[in-house]
Amino acid sequence: MFIALERLINLQDGYRGTFQVQGRQLLLIVVDQQAILLENRCPHRGAPLHNGTLEGRVLRCSRHGIAFDLDSGRALDAACSPLLRLTLTYDGDRVGLDL
Ligand code: FES
Repeated sequence: MFIALERLINLQDGYRGTFQVQGRQLLLIVVDQQAILLENRCPHRGAPLHNGTLEGRVLRCSRHGIAFDLDSGRALDAACSPLLRLTLTYDGDRVGLDL
């Protein structure tokens, strides 16, 4: 089942959108014209990530400052589980996810 999250026309660098899908908090961001979907929950202590700071393709959590590589999901400066990334699906003029 396709769950639409956003129109493609709205996906521009700097975009951040938060969604709740089946009880999960999700964060959709666009970096270098690439849409990335994450669980909006820091793997360190569970803080929401939508207030994090972007430094290139690195997202730094605002709670304790751990930085995560958006491509691999790995924490760069701490022993911490990786970000949970979800696969985006495209359908017509929308982006979303398949459940
Ligand atoms: S909760 Fe994100 S760095 Fe601690």
